[in-house]
Amino acid sequence: MAILFDEKKKVFTLQTKNTTWQMQVGRYGHLLHLYYGRRVGEGVLDYLVRGINRGFSGAPYEAGEDRGYSLDTYPQEYSAYGVGDYRISCLSVEHGDGSRAAELLFDSYQIEKGKYSLAGLPAAWDEGGEAETLRVVLKDKASLVEAVLLYGVFEEHDVITRACIIRNKGEGIWLERALSACLDLQRHDLEMITFYGRHTMERSLERGMCRHGKITAESMRGTSSHQENPFVILCEKGAGEDWGECYGMSLVYSGSFLAEAEVDQINQTRFVMGIHPEGFRWRLEKGERFFAPEVIFSFTSDGYGALSKNFHRFYQEHLIRSKYRNTRRPILLNHWEAMEFHIQEEELVSLAVSAKELGVELFVMDDGWFKGRDHDRRGLGDWTPDTKKLPKGVTGLSEKIHGMGMLFGIWIEPEMINEDSDLYRAHPDWCLKAPGRMPNRERGQLVLDMSSREVQDYLFENIGGILKEAAVDYVKWDMNRNLSDVWSFSCPAIRQGEAGHRYVLGLYELMERFVRAFPEILFEGCSGGGGRFDAGILYYMPQIWCSDNTDAVERISIQYGTSFGYPVSSMGAHVSVSPNLQTGRSMPLETRAIVAMAGAFGYELDVRKTGQEERKRIKEQIQWYKQYQELILYGDYYRLTPVEANREFAAWQVVSRDKKTAVVSAVCLHARSNPLFWRVRLKGLKEDTWYRVRQERLTDCSGKDKEQEQKEGQDENPAKREELLCLGSGLMYGGVNLPVFWRDYESVLYVIEEADKRGGGLPGER
Ligand code: GLA
Repeated sequence: MAILFDEKKKVFTLQTKNTTWQMQVGRYGHLLHLYYGRRVGEGVLDYLVRGINRGFSGAPYEAGEDRGYSLDTYPQEYSAYGVGDYRISCLSVEHGDGSRAAELLFDSYQIEKGKYSLAGLPAAWDEGGEAETLRVVLKDKASLVEAVLLYGVFEEHDVITRACIIRNKGEGIWLERALSACLDLQRHDLEMITFYGRHTMERSLERGMCRHGKITAESMRGTSSHQENPFVILCEKGAGEDWGECYGMSLVYSGSFLAEAEVDQINQTRFVMGIHPEGFRWRLEKGERFFAPEVIFSFTSDGYGALSKNFHRFYQEHLIRSKYRNTRRPILLNHWEAMEFHIQEEELVSLAVSAKELGVELFVMDDGWFKGRDHDRRGLGDWTPDTKKLPKGVTGLSEKIHGMGMLFGIWIEPEMINEDSDLYRAHPDWCLKAPGRMPNRERGQLVLDMSSREVQDYLFENIGGILKEAAVDYVKWDMNRNLSDVWSFSCPAIRQGEAGHRYVLGLYELMERFVRAFPEILFEGCSGGGGRFDAGILYYMPQIWCSDNTDAVERISIQYGTSFGYPVSSMGAHVSVSPNLQTGRSMPLETRAIVAMAGAFGYELDVRKTGQEERKRIKEQIQWYKQYQELILYGDYYRLTPVEANREFAAWQVVSRDKKTAVVSAVCLHARSNPLFWRVRLKGLKEDTWYRVRQERLTDCSGKDKEQEQKEGQDENPAKREELLCLGSGLMYGGVNLPVFWRDYESVLYVIEEADKRGGGLPGER
């Protein structure tokens, strides 16, 4: 039993393998938070909660002279506005009489086997019977408003999910805020780690002490955004990869969000997460319910390396649903960086032929294929193929690609519309725009009102028709701007505060229709790269294009930041041309590949323009990746260097679940004259096992380019090929020497395999 209830003390205890969450019905009926952290068994920690009479922090009416019992200082499970808790609230209700208050008191509970689900929203699932659900019903003291707090306990994964349903059994109310969860920790020694960014530079790590007042990570852009991410960490001061208490919180939602931590007057920290209240106002009529999206919590006392591992495994086993969730992904070539909008069927076919020769398995036609789409100001919304470019439509091209024995994929951007499109001319009201105002344009496009069933049907029929007819195997679902002028033609004036969230619900409904209708398709999310990289999208699509920035050095930092909350298997990563189109930086092919191999791997360049030697190396890369793909995508991922602090080199590692094989990658970011020796300590191996350490031929750390090496007749540097035999403990505590890097962006790739597996024998046996 992962969920226990002590009737006498009215205490709920949620247990996972290594963590405990505890709460208690307080003496006046409020649900108080007692503890979340390292597993403490079943002992009740109610003694931790204390109160004294503090000035300017009142007590509930019934408390009478028990003045120390204040909602302003007592830790709570779900905070509400208006009744004496002046800290951040999760819930703010406006009643029919204009009063704004909710005092939530314990009413009842239910413990169930399995995991709850949330109507219309993505949420973690459980098929294997690991999860248990706790529902706690809280009722407002003076109205018929109820908050149903949901807890999903995944014992083995050290994960507790939370969500909340607001029910209204009385006259209509307005929800001014309806966040998902609150975590009241009676401590203030915490840092908050967030992931900020911008287009082409997503998820840069930033950390800072929580302090009196609030710190916030948020998006008000209608999407989870490039600028902040709905995954945050609260950790013990100074915590690192392998040390320190860490709480991770991930909102399973793709719209505007708020993640906020507040240190109060007595040094306690409250953390809340949910839909951003700015612009939000939701009408709840009698009998209606509002579902606040899920937050996935995990705690570990072993640093954020272990925390990431919890999230990675959990997403793979309990969030992502695609048939590609835990299987091989086809290695793709996407046409975008090679041709952008300037496509013609024969050009695409010749690109695909060239890619096929290299071992590429899936050819993706990106933007530019539909009517009028010669640039970014035209065509979005008209999902009919441009026959000037594709004489026999998408189907004609698809047949040719399939005929070559390759899979075939296309790019779509369903949520958008250009004013220069037949769709806009027919339905100018279908986009978000406020009456009497010209809408903000971004990339020359406007946003369709996804809350409208009519719009959803149009998109499903038109795009779905093509996917079906052309037997498409892969879809890149893009979204190239943020929401503004959020006014929906399908909402009455008084309910326009619902439009932002209804957009997200409509989007989810449409995605659900697509993934159900096309279960064989590999869907990849995208929003100008990683502008909507969140757990909500991963429920529908197993991978997301990580960034429009394909420069390998920049990608190292983007993928590093992303890896804190999301698994390697979720990050689309491609080898592109050198010099790079975004930064102009030149980079060896090997290094571009090594970086892209830390993700769902592919190519995005005109491979027809590559020389013989490069083609040979690309072939080798593809073969190599195919061999190690499952290990890389589904093994345990370790960050070996802190990218934000180590500007000299970056290293990372993946270890198979059985700890028999590992791959270590390192890239020199800043070569030095008279170079220093660099070494990395490995992780996740078995201490007493012998491993062979092999430097892969794919790597490039000779200080010379390959052509030069060949001219000199020394294709192989003997030192490069040397195999080491080491104990796991030596590799983890002593480390592995990186080769001496003589040039910027040289890189190395090691494969580490349990020694007896490879027939080499152990040292004593040779
Ligand atoms: C976005 C995507 C790119 C590409 C273009 C096409 O920017 O992130 O990968 O698909 O759109 O317009």
